Amino acid sequence: MCSRSTDSSLKVSVLGSGNGSNCQAIIDAIEQGRLRATVACVVSDVEDAPILERARRHGIPAYFVSGAPFKTKLEGDAEQRYIDTLRQHGTEIVALAGFMRIVKPPLLAAFPQHVINIHPALLPAFPGKQSWKQALEHGVKITGCTVHIVDEGTDTGPIIVQRAVPILENDTPESLHARIQVEEHMAYPEALQQFADDRARIKGRRVGLSSEC
Ligand code: GRF
Repeated sequence: MCSRSTDSSLKVSVLGSGNGSNCQAIIDAIEQGRLRATVACVVSDVEDAPILERARRHGIPAYFVSGAPFKTKLEGDAEQRYIDTLRQHGTEIVALAGFMRIVKPPLLAAFPQHVINIHPALLPAFPGKQSWKQALEHGVKITGCTVHIVDEGTDTGPIIVQRAVPILENDTPESLHARIQVEEHMAYPEALQQFADDRARIKGRRVGLSSEC
């Protein structure tokens, strides 16, 4: 059964701590008509993060919201400030894009199964930080990126979209990460479009596509 009206565009809010190239890819996909969505707001825990400037350039509300007193997680009052900001903008889905904090159950419960993340490896391989470096050091021949639903674990939630990237003989961490990012920029809009069409069906660990909507 379809739970949202597909007449209106999906309201996506993006949380990020850094460059924001994935946020940019989402904005570009919307502007080019490849993704039927609106970026409701962009929120960062880093005051001068480029992701905020990217959003403002497109007239998108963009806020620095402190994550203090914690450094690597979003909890307590700070988490509530995030939930309030997201709700004020009518957020339907929260897209984490380089957000360097672990989000906790209250935020996940505020947007049930609608907090998603992009990870620079083919999960469940290489969870955690600098996954492209982990993949290179491990000697795998193929890595890639994964868009997944966020659950209470680290990079453990149900997988929505994956794209593969071959590792080349002369790859450095930087060259590999750059090629992974090219795929990320296609994967994130693709995953969001499944929600915009109301076609993503989550059954346990599996996310399938319904033909109903
Ligand atoms: C991406 O590589 C993403 O997979 C990871 O953080 C990076 C964010 O890059 N979670 P950007 O800020 O979107 O350019």
